[in-house]
Amino acid sequence: MEFDKRYALKLQNKVAMVTGAARGIGQSIALRLSQEGAAIVVDYVGKPGTADTTLKAIKSAGGQALAVAADVGNPQQVQALVDETVKNFGHLDILVNNAGIEFKHPFVEFPLEQFQKIISVNLIGPFVCAQIAARQMIQQGTGGRIINISSVHEDLPMPTNAPYCATKGGLRMLTRTIAVELAPHKITVNNIGPGAVFTPIDADVEANKALEDTLMAEIPLGRWGKPEEVASLAAFLASDEAAYCTGSTFFIDGGMLRQSGSL
Ligand code: BGC
Repeated sequence: MEFDKRYALKLQNKVAMVTGAARGIGQSIALRLSQEGAAIVVDYVGKPGTADTTLKAIKSAGGQALAVAADVGNPQQVQALVDETVKNFGHLDILVNNAGIEFKHPFVEFPLEQFQKIISVNLIGPFVCAQIAARQMIQQGTGGRIINISSVHEDLPMPTNAPYCATKGGLRMLTRTIAVELAPHKITVNNIGPGAVFTPIDADVEANKALEDTLMAEIPLGRWGKPEEVASLAAFLASDEAAYCTGSTFFIDGGMLRQSGSL
């Protein structure tokens, strides 16, 4: 992850909080928003040090960053995360709800506790983070950006992944609804819907050539997406240039949702 001088500073003087930013798409978004000039709060779960790679990448490129551990489904921890953000950087302008998990297993045998865990991270997490961030943004009175990392599976069924699909479908309507409620405060809310992006969430497929070939056959552009490509879209949606975008999902999937499946 290198600092790329091509980027204009679209986000100077902005403060962004990115959940699940220790790896994968969240890590790329954190770095890219930093390259655009924002100060970044990197949320992570797990042991201290989990987000060190992200922090180091940002700081060695001259950016400002802080890592805070918080479980996105826990309102007390999320409030502490927002308080820490404001204490260190003065305000909060951009929230990226990126943290997400999946567990593939046939529906008829799917353990309820796993479903509850997936709901907690993928749906309760964005709800809690958006609610607490929106209160802060409303108090500041300067608008804001909420960007949720959803999936093509907010629309597209994926057998063996019903709980994940259900949470992403929920996120689709959460976004649409709160976008309307928050519009009077000039807080925009949008989803990014990635397809198959090469990150640790798909480690099982990346390690299995036959599975990978099956997946690639579903994608008109015939390749994995890169986390940096998703981060470019996030940088746009976070910027002033996207002031008129709200309540929508922006898919970035190599054409996956348009695959006709014909011979
Ligand atoms: C899922 C991946 C899946 C990809 C494309 C993502 O949202 O996390 O497991 O490969 O969508 O189907």
